[in-house]
Formats: sequence, structure tokens, C-alpha cells
Amino acid sequence: MTKPDNDRVVIFDTTLRDGEQSPGATMTHDEKLEIAGLLDEMGVDIIEAGFPIASEGDFRAVSEIAKQAQNAVICGLARANLKDIDRCWEAVKHARQPRIHTFIGTSPLHRAIPDLTRDEMAERIHETVTHARNLCDNVQWSPMDATRTEWDYLCRVVEIAIKAGASTINIPDTVGYTAPVESADLIKRLIETVPGADDVVFATHCHNDLGMATANSLAAVAGGARQIECTINGLGERAGNTALEEVVMALKVRNDIMPWHTGIDTTKIMNISRRVSTVSGFVVQPNKAIVGKNAFAHESGIHQDGMLKNAETFEIMRPEDVGISGTSLPLGKHSGRAALRAKLKDLGIEVGDNQLKDIFVRFKDLADRKKEVYDDDILALVSVTGETS
Ligand code: KIV
Ligand code: ZN
Repeated sequence: MTKPDNDRVVIFDTTLRDGEQSPGATMTHDEKLEIAGLLDEMGVDIIEAGFPIASEGDFRAVSEIAKQAQNAVICGLARANLKDIDRCWEAVKHARQPRIHTFIGTSPLHRAIPDLTRDEMAERIHETVTHARNLCDNVQWSPMDATRTEWDYLCRVVEIAIKAGASTINIPDTVGYTAPVESADLIKRLIETVPGADDVVFATHCHNDLGMATANSLAAVAGGARQIECTINGLGERAGNTALEEVVMALKVRNDIMPWHTGIDTTKIMNISRRVSTVSGFVVQPNKAIVGKNAFAHESGIHQDGMLKNAETFEIMRPEDVGISGTSLPLGKHSGRAALRAKLKDLGIEVGDNQLKDIFVRFKDLADRKKEVYDDDILALVSVTGETS
């Protein structure tokens, strides 16, 4: 595996694995294939297509996605045992570019579950990564709950995984516990400390329990990570994973202070967001960054007036850049005369100042009673005003 250029951030999408693990987000076989196709088309570098040992259905989906992928690396997840890894390889081996991702929980809380000592776990990591590497030349390894793993032990196990042949080391913040300064510092110190770290790609995998997943992922990149693991709409267990659309657009819009780029065609974001929402049954909250219904909508008079004069007054990115046809200026009780005049013009209605004044009074009265005033409401107001003025 060759390392990407230093200013390139690899996007690893796990909507179909970590995202699908979200309670109630199960997708059908065909839906998974469709989403994988859209991810591939939009330029996602690596698609984590599932957890092949988890079920016959997951195995079949990962195998089919591996066969259909045109550009992306196709990755499957495996726990740290030979059976899981073999099953994972059986599924991903059909891909033009396969990857095995194997993991084990390394924090004290997680080590206690299989009841392994530090040495026993270190041995298991060596054995399983070596096995994966003998099957596939692209192996990713993750110490689950890395951000709550003792520093000395984390360095030790990362070094073992690198020596055993892993080419990507993922540092998961499994329970969304870390904060941005720590996230940057952890990756930076690992790269500085662990022998062989310069030869591998460090990845960041953040959960959103404290609402810091996007910030933590970007901080990790500042610390030296060059792979961000994320999902569409931030779908994922509990409060979800880092949202792909957020990190990708943050890197695009604030490239002045975050000088790294991705290979994502951002104009495809809105379409895939809608499809993932539909197939997973997870509605996107209206005020969700980038893909929420209100992300490019302005209701207040001051904002609408500003937007009509210069879109940069209240928008830091163009809706077209994320695949939305344009800004929306919904009319409501906070809207002003300028937006009403613009709406009338859109509807093909030219009015004089006096008539606009009358329509505006009636519009405000209606808007006080209704959450949103629609085109039909405006047309009705115009006809009533026309009759009486
Ligand atoms: O959150 C996590 O730790 C994971 C691992 C399997 C990488 O999803
Ligand atoms: Zn996760």
C-alpha cells in the first residue's frame, strides 16, 4: 500500500458497517448495493461494506459490493480471531482493491471482556494481524477504545500491529470521550513515538456522544492522521459517527486554515444523504449541518434582505456545491418586505408600492397564525388585495 500525499485526506466511509449497526437502521441487500454504488461514484476512497462474519446477509452484501466497486477499496471488518479474518477475506477478495480491517478492544475495560492479560492480548494482535497480512496486502488494525487505553500499552500494541504488517492504524474514539486538543495530541505523539509510524497511515474514527466527532476528526488530521472514518448523515451507534458531509465540507470551505483535501465530489452529497435517510429510516434533523432542510434556508427579514443583495452575507458555501439547487427563503412571520416582493416576482406578479404595502399587512397577519406561508397563500392574498385596493 502506498501512502497518500501529505495534503490528501483519505475518506473511509462506514455507513454500511458502523452506520448500519445503529439500532433500527438495517438496510436490505439491494439498498446496501445502491448506497455502495453512490459512495463509489462520489469518490469515497474506502468503503467499509460490512462485518462478514456477523450474518449470511452481511457476507453476501460485502461480496457483491466487492464485485461491483469500480474505484473504491472495499473493506470488511473482522474481530481478532482467525475465523473472522478468513470469513472477511472470503468476502472482500473479489474486490479490485480489498482491505481487511481487524480490531480488538485495548482499554482496561475492554481487555477485561475476553479476560486477556496485556501480554496475551499483545500476542493475539501479533498473530491476527500477521494472519490477515498473509491473506491480503492491505490490512487496517484498530485498538478499540484507543482513547481510554493506557499510553504505554497503546504505543506497544500499535508497534506490534505495524511490525506484523498493518498499513493503516486506526485510532478509534469508540465512546466519543475525547476532546479536540487531546485528539490532535494523541495522533501527533503516536507518530512521534512509535517506531515505524512514519510508514503507515493513521486514521481517526470518532463517535459523537458529546457532539465533538467532527471537531475531533479534524483535530486528528491536524495532528497527522490522513484517513477520516465517517458515515453519511453521521449515522451510527448511539449519537452516531463523524458525518462525512461535515468533515468534507469543512476541509473544502476552510482550506485556508486546514490545508488538506479529499477526493469527494461534493455535489453528490445531498442525493446520497436523502437516499441514506430513506433506506435507513433515520430522518435528518432540519438544522443538521450541510444536509438539513434548513441548512440553506433563511426566514428572518434581515437575513432574507441580505441574501437577496449578496448571498455571502449569510452563506459560507454555495448550496450548489453540495448538490442543492439553491437557497430557500421561506416566508414566515420573521420575513420582511424585500422577501415578499422577491416571492411575488418569482410567481410572476409585479405590484406597485401601495399594493405591496397592503399585501404585506395581510401577509404578516396570516404569518402570525401559520408556521410557513406557501405560494398558494400568497396568491390568495394577492387576489383578495386586488379586489379591495
Ligand atoms: O468505534 C469503534 O471502535 C469501532 C471499531 C470496530 C473500529 O467501530
Ligand atoms: Zn465505531
